[in-house]
Amino acid sequence: MSAILEAKNLGKVFEDKKRGEIHAVRDLSFQVNRGEIFGLLGTNGAGKTTTLRILATILQPSSGTATVAGYDVIQQPDRVRASIGYLTGDTNLYTRLTPRELLTYYARLFGMAKGDIATKIEELSERFELQEFLGTKIGKLSTGQRQRTSICRAIIQKPELMIFDEPTAGLDPISARHIVEFIRESRTAGRTVIFSTHYLREAEKLCDRIAIVHDGTLRAMGTLDELLAESGTSDLEDAFFHFIELDREAVAAVV
Ligand SMILES: Nc1ncnc2c1ncn2[C@@H]1O[C@H](COP(=O)(O)OP(=O)(O)OP(=O)(O)O)[C@@H](O)[C@H]1O
Ligand SMILES: [Mg+2]
Repeated sequence: MSAILEAKNLGKVFEDKKRGEIHAVRDLSFQVNRGEIFGLLGTNGAGKTTTLRILATILQPSSGTATVAGYDVIQQPDRVRASIGYLTGDTNLYTRLTPRELLTYYARLFGMAKGDIATKIEELSERFELQEFLGTKIGKLSTGQRQRTSICRAIIQKPELMIFDEPTAGLDPISARHIVEFIRESRTAGRTVIFSTHYLREAEKLCDRIAIVHDGTLRAMGTLDELLAESGTSDLEDAFFHFIELDREAVAAVV
């Protein structure tokens, strides 16, 4: 299997005036293979967003390297960006544009032909049930409608790799299902997704392989069966707690 993403010994240290040095990501190494759905599973503050931001070239790592679609995230950020569709957790962007304007803008940025753009927007808005809202300013949309708009923006140019940061966080079951089903279809279509989540069920249902991160470090990685076998447990929740080496009560407060 060929890797579309390779992270080697990634590290990120933030200098925070009040908190001092924060090691958000420590020595993180993993690969994502083409055609696979790969989940980064971890509690709040585990380092998921920081890792995905490095891979999406929004942040530079403090140490280590990563390549996406064969391009180096530090040396060739433009090439990396052209190869990915990045969904941030921040849906407060572009509030003054309508979904149609936003999608048109991104499609042009990626050099799509005018005729193709209209067709593509039609197709995506139908897929994500956004037709009614295409002409409404994003600032006036609900969280779920915004998130669906953001997904459409991230995938409009059919990226080689989709990087989704907590794609279903804060969404109702209907909006979440749209996104979960989309990720499932992507697998059927042989596309590649790396996404972060703290929902165990979501990781269990969707991922070919799961990386459990905690406190910036990789605690375990493998298929669900491999994680269960390695931890000697029979469900992902028990395996998760086994790997992060915390008792349930301490973790219940943060998951
Ligand atoms: N710009 C920043 N400056 C200082 N500290 C930061 C910055 N960004 C993240 N951190 C810290 O790095 C750590 C990891 O944060 P990160 O956002 O990557 O976690 P996460 O796994 O995405 O958590 P969540 O599930 O809450 O989204 C946290 O301790 C966070 O406070
Ligand atoms: Mg996060």
